[in-house]
Formats: sequence, C-alpha cells, structure tokens
Amino acid sequence: MQRALSLDRSPALGAVLRYFACTPLFALLAGLLLVWQGEAAFQSRWSPVTLALTHLFTLGVLGMSMAGALIQILPVVACSVLPHARTMAPAVHALLGAGTLALAAAFLASRPWLFGLALAALVPALLWLAGALAIGLWQRAPAGAAPMVATVRLALASLLVTVVLGTLLGMAFALPGVIPLDLARVTDLHAMWGLFGWGGLLLAGVAVQVLPMFQVTPLYDSRLERWLGSLVVLALLLCSVKALGLAPAIVLLSAFALFAVATLLLLKRRTRAADAMTKFWSLAMVCLLAAIVIWALPGEMAGAGQTLAVAVLFIAGFLYSTINGMLYKIVPFLLWHHKQTETAPGQRVMQVKRIIPDEVAQRQFYLHVIAVSLLVAACWYPEALARAAGVAISVSALSLGWNLSRACRRDLAQPAGV
Ligand code: HEM
Repeated sequence: MQRALSLDRSPALGAVLRYFACTPLFALLAGLLLVWQGEAAFQSRWSPVTLALTHLFTLGVLGMSMAGALIQILPVVACSVLPHARTMAPAVHALLGAGTLALAAAFLASRPWLFGLALAALVPALLWLAGALAIGLWQRAPAGAAPMVATVRLALASLLVTVVLGTLLGMAFALPGVIPLDLARVTDLHAMWGLFGWGGLLLAGVAVQVLPMFQVTPLYDSRLERWLGSLVVLALLLCSVKALGLAPAIVLLSAFALFAVATLLLLKRRTRAADAMTKFWSLAMVCLLAAIVIWALPGEMAGAGQTLAVAVLFIAGFLYSTINGMLYKIVPFLLWHHKQTETAPGQRVMQVKRIIPDEVAQRQFYLHVIAVSLLVAACWYPEALARAAGVAISVSALSLGWNLSRACRRDLAQPAGV
C-alpha cells in the first residue's frame, strides 16, 4: 500500500518547531550535567545523577521530539484531528519542559517538594498529550496508515502504563514512607514499559511509515508491520508477571532484533544515495543489536558496566540516533512546506535538501558517533571517560541546535528561475 500525505492538515509551524528546538537543548543540559558530575553518573543505575540524566534524555530529548513528531505526523499521515491543538501544543510543551527540569532537579537535590512539583507538571502534560493523540488515533485513518496507527496506539497505551508507574514512584519520593512500594520492581516495570513500549514501539511505528518515504526503500514485510506491536505488548505484559522468568524478555528482545535486522536490510535496498538519515538510522539499528547482545552476555564476561551499557545503547544509541536523523528530514520539510504557502508571485522556495545541506548534517553525525561511543565506553571506564563523554554529547548537541536554528533563520524565498 502506498504511503500518502494530507499536507493541508499540517498543524501550525510554531506548534511543532518548539518541541524540536528543545531536543538539542535538553541533550546539551544532559552533556553539561555529565561534565559536572563525571564518574558519579556511572556508579550505579540508582545514583541520583544517573536518574536525572535518564529523565533529561527520556522526557526532555526523546519525549519532546516524540510529542512534536506525533502532533505533526498524525494529522498529515493519518488525517487525525487533534482536539484544541492550538492550546494543547504550547501548553503540553511548557508543562513537559518545566516538569522534566523539576524531576531532574528533584533527583539531584533529593527534595520531596521538587518531586511534587515535577508530578504537578508532568502528569497533566503527559495525560493531556496522550488523551489528544488517542482521540486523534480513534478516527478513521486511510488504509495506507493503518499499520502505523495500530502500532502508535499500542505505544500510547504503553506511555500510560509508564506514567502511572512513574507517578507512583514519584509519589513515593514526594511523600516518603506514605506509599509502600517495592521500588526496585516498580522501577524495572516503569523503565521497561517506557523504553520498549513507548519509545521502541513508537519509533518502530513511525519507521514503517517514514523509512520507505524518506529513503525510498521497499515497504516493511506486512507480517512484521502487523504483528510487531502486539508481540511487544504481549511480551511486556508477560514480563510484568515475575513468575515467568526470562522467557518473555527473550521474546521481547527477539522482536526488536527482528525489527533492527529488517530495517538494516531495507536500508541496504534503498534507491537513494546514502545521506545523514541513512547513517543515523544504520547506527541506531547497530546500537539496538549491540544492546541486545550485551544484555545476553553472561555477567562475568560483560563486566560491571553491563546494565548501564545496555541502557545507554538503547536510549542514546538506538532511540536518540533515530530521532536525531529524522530531525534532518522533518524540520527542513516543515520549513519548506510552510514557506510554500506564503511565497509571493515571482518567487520560489529553496529546495528542501538545500535548507540543511547533507554534508553539514553528516558532520554532526560523526560528532554523535563519538559521543555515543564515549558514553558506552564510560560504562566500563567511568573515571577515564565520563567527562569526555559529557563534552562530546554537549558538542554534538550544540552542532545539532546550530544546524536546526540556522535552517529556521534562513530566508528560503528565492527569485523564480534561480
Ligand atoms: C510522569 C513521568 C515520569 C516520572 C514521574 C518518572 C519517575 C521516575 C522515578 C521516581 C524513577 C526512580 C525510581 C527509583 O529510584 O526507585 C524513575 C526511573 C526510571 N524512569 Fe521514569 N519517570 C517518568 C517518565 C519516564 C519515561 C517517559 C521514561 C522512558 C521513556 C522513563 C524511564 C525511566 C527509567 C529508564 C528509569 C530507571 C533508571 C535506572 O534504572 O537507572 N521515565 N522514573
């Protein structure tokens, strides 16, 4: 089935650009925090710095861009109408940004009132976003968008589970001793639903739609498109039953390995020359496979850095690389589309691919590769590499921010005939 777009349904430019602008800002903040705190971030998964960094990434970097992408893509690809989008988009953006900063500060300062403040912003932000998107996804989508819509619905359901568990954890910190929780178990479930269900499934759902479009590849195998989402959610439900042991986790990781291999094979069959997005997405899939291999290694072979390396490869290597690469397609396209609607007679709009030249995006790709490599290596050698990884993340984020902001400031109108 061909992938078609309804561009006349595109939301206001500012409504989504503000989300994408926050992606490099939160990545920069995470990089600077790592430079400041150094090896403390790699002491254990429970260290306050690690938890602050985790949420600067999951809510700030990934959450912001995923929310922006959904607010943009659903009306255009699935013809969804998001209720009160003009109020919802800026309000959710402000609450999500403020809540993420408060949550990171709460972990760093260990202050119950800061956890309360974070919950007061994050819970309405995420429920409002999920509610608006759910209403949008409930409407009849064109047949070509059906696989994406089905997977994104499951991703949204996973976000709700993540938020409920995150809220319970946040309340346990805001009101110490009042809510009896098995913190380790609830955190495992919260992290699992957030990373695999919300982050992983959303990217898989969007990939089946945008990879064939932007990279001119064949479509994904229709069985993978149809079953990946259900298989992942079923495995997550079974993982939530402790008594079933490792078997559901193996099913879950096999499903993601299948997705990574299928994506790499499709990228090989693209009919366009490799560009920055090809490289970011190939890196993302290699990182996903590496995370799965490291998870499967026996503890004595993988060493002390194993748990953190799996998380770093999944969050920064897989999820963030995919998003970083996609920003170089989405942002120029939005700017181009917006300018098209307001060009004066005798003028034409600069070609999309010239708005951010590919060589500029590819330079940032190499900075990103250095940042991810140092971050992974720092899981085993924190004293030597933690601060260097922080510097590399900051430099890569500055470069991404500079490239995006330059594109926004460019005058895209040219005299016709140029
Ligand atoms: C309402 C929003 C959220 C709140 C209030 C929240 C709160 C928390 C809290 C309090 C913990 C620490 C638990 C402990 O130390 O025992 C935690 C851990 C974690 N959260 Fe969230 N969270 C939220 C959203 C998310 C999202 C959307 C994701 C992923 C996409 C996520 C990923 C994680 C991960 C991976 C951990 C475990 C970190 C580790 O083990 O090092 N969180 N969260």
